[in-house]
Amino acid sequence: MNEEQRKSQSQIKQVESTKVEKPLSEKTTADFAKYFQTTYQPPDIRKARKRYREKIEVHYDFEIPDDMKEIGEGKKFLIQTYGCQMNEHDTEVMAGILTEMGYQATTVTEEADIVLLNTCAIRENAENKVFGELGHLKPLKMEKPDLIIGVCGCMSQQESVVNKIMQKHQHVDLIFGTHNIHRLPHLIKEAFYSKAKVVEVWSKEGDIIENLPKVRHGKIKAWVNIMYGCDKFCTYCIVPMTRGKERSRRPEDIIQEVRRLAAEGYQEVTLLGQNVNAYGKDFEDIDYTFANLMDDMHKIDIPRVRFTTSHPRDFDDHLIEVLAQGGNLLDHIHLPVQSGSSEVLRRMNRKYTREEYLELVRKIKQAIPNVTLTTDIIVGFPNETEEQFEETMTLVEEVGFESAYTFIYSPREGTPAAARKDDVSMDEKKRRLYRLNELVNHQAADSMQEYQGKVVKVLVEGESKKDPDVLAGYTEKNKVVNFRGPKSVIGQIVDVKITDAKTWSLNGEMVENQVEVN
Ligand code: 5AD
Ligand code: SF4
Repeated sequence: MNEEQRKSQSQIKQVESTKVEKPLSEKTTADFAKYFQTTYQPPDIRKARKRYREKIEVHYDFEIPDDMKEIGEGKKFLIQTYGCQMNEHDTEVMAGILTEMGYQATTVTEEADIVLLNTCAIRENAENKVFGELGHLKPLKMEKPDLIIGVCGCMSQQESVVNKIMQKHQHVDLIFGTHNIHRLPHLIKEAFYSKAKVVEVWSKEGDIIENLPKVRHGKIKAWVNIMYGCDKFCTYCIVPMTRGKERSRRPEDIIQEVRRLAAEGYQEVTLLGQNVNAYGKDFEDIDYTFANLMDDMHKIDIPRVRFTTSHPRDFDDHLIEVLAQGGNLLDHIHLPVQSGSSEVLRRMNRKYTREEYLELVRKIKQAIPNVTLTTDIIVGFPNETEEQFEETMTLVEEVGFESAYTFIYSPREGTPAAARKDDVSMDEKKRRLYRLNELVNHQAADSMQEYQGKVVKVLVEGESKKDPDVLAGYTEKNKVVNFRGPKSVIGQIVDVKITDAKTWSLNGEMVENQVEVN
């Protein structure tokens, strides 16, 4: 089949292997063609579990080919991002690539020549939002036939979604997966010059590509990927299928990136991974863990280092010891628990019990007495009993979470939990979510009251959304603080005395030379 035929069939490509000898910048779609299969496999957990032994290489030779550097001259792009910080950061990379291709960013959809939807597959409602947005874009595409509409991110990794887009949203020109971001210049070129749909979704992750350009959102806080993928296979979660196996970036590359950000004046970095505690487990040549990485972060002259997200199973004593050093390692830990029932945790394949989680919390609190813990919780997992839900409620109280992201379980095609029968009605799930949220809100409000009259360190991010005369920023424990102050402190860390505590934010007054009690 020649290139044209392949394109016109608009088939979904899968890659068998990505070990291609040429530098990335010289590769064309044809170089990958031998790796493509012509049929698409739905997410398959058994296959995914067998992926551990494949070697990942790191590439430092990404370049935009010369003939693609001016494709975007005089044109604009808009990327809409759904879902987690990983997606936000992927958007920064795609913005970097498009900018190097000559495109300019816009926030006005009608002005855009390229609209990309960077999607999330974690729950059904995230997907519905994207389908809604695709519907909204249809009239614009009819008005502007040259507009390129693309769908990328986690939804693109799912067969059912790609099929639905192909059938019901004919105005989409480009679909590409989470492992294909570095191929964006080639994909745009193909979409630009051909009238056929361009679909490129690799079911297997590629190598790590280090030097992708980025346009970061702001100059104060930055995201830094430390690893990609997830091998935990929680039974409800689609991520191990959409993001591939765990691959850690080399420590020297991460350290260099953070040092550069510090030198550029960034005040805070958040280290990103689906399960940062598994960082380094895939290294064969060095013994270097997440604790080692955090220890190295501690030595870098940047005021704040956060990380997200942790899996309790891999949260070891060495890490606790390193975090207890404090300094730029902040005393806020997001530690998703998902459920307070050992039986539900077992069925979720979380690999820890309620007691083990509580023991971990005890150790963390002992080592870091002022620690703030936040979490993620799923209610209404298939066949969750009232008693098991109550165990979640008591665990939330016992740990004293100061906030939590709470979700109703959403079945995801291809995950083991989705194949289970579920005897919990949606009304019941909603009732449980409501009760859980009431409890979390109470705990959040109580924790905020503690701040009355105290002085906290606030990293000032800018004007508050509601009032341009008010500044807004975040404490070390990630609480929003609004206060009046000069615009010159934007980007700095200042002391603010709290005068009013609400459930989700604090109001205060800027002070100088006061003792910090944060
Ligand atoms: N249904 C509901 N919530 C989910 N999460 C992940 N998968 C699902 C699902 N199928 C939640 C988990 C995870 C967070 C990012 O999203 O709580 O920690
Ligand atoms: Fe999903 Fe997180 Fe579990 Fe990985 S650890 S499977 S990303 S919930």
